[in-house]
Amino acid sequence: MLNRAKLLLWAQMIRKVEERLSRIKDIVERHPANRGSLIPVLQDIQEDFGYLSEEAVEELARLMGISANEMYGVATFYTQFRFSPPGRHRIQSCQGTACHVRGGQQILKELERRLGITAGQTTADGQFDLQRVACLGCCALAPVVAVDGKVYARMSAKKIPSVLSQYDDRKGMENA
Ligand code: FES
Repeated sequence: MLNRAKLLLWAQMIRKVEERLSRIKDIVERHPANRGSLIPVLQDIQEDFGYLSEEAVEELARLMGISANEMYGVATFYTQFRFSPPGRHRIQSCQGTACHVRGGQQILKELERRLGITAGQTTADGQFDLQRVACLGCCALAPVVAVDGKVYARMSAKKIPSVLSQYDDRKGMENA
C-alpha cells in the first residue's frame, strides 16, 4: 500500500511535469502557429531547459502537430541542439577548416575516447559535455578546444589529459 511519503513524492513529480509542460506551451504560444516557427521554438526550449528532452519533443509534437520523428529529423540536422542535459563543464572541439587541417578531428576523437561519449553527449556523471563546433573565431591558434569558454590553443591529443584534469574531480583520467 502507498504510504503518505510516496504519495507526496508523486504529487511533487506531477506538479513538476505540469510546470514543465506549461513552460513549453508558453514558448510555443510566443511564436506564430506554423512550421516555420519550429527552429525558433526549439531554440527557445533549449535556452529555457538547457537541452531538448524527450518529454519536450513529445509535447512540442503534440502542440505543433508535427511528428516527433520529423522534429528529431530537423533538430539533429543542426549541431546547436543537444538532447541530453548539459554537463558542469562544456567542452567545445573546433572542427572549422583551420582546425580541421591541423588535426581537429583526431583531437575530437581523443576527447570522445577519454570521456567515453560522442560529440553532443554528456558524461554519465554530468561532469562534461562535448560539442563539435564550426569555428571558435580564433583560427590563428588552431587547432583549438574551449572549456567553459576558455580557449586552449594549438591543441594536440597529448595535451588533452592536462586540460581535462583542470576541470575533472574524478580520478585517473590522466592515465586512461
Ligand atoms: S576554424 Fe577553429 S577557430 Fe576557426
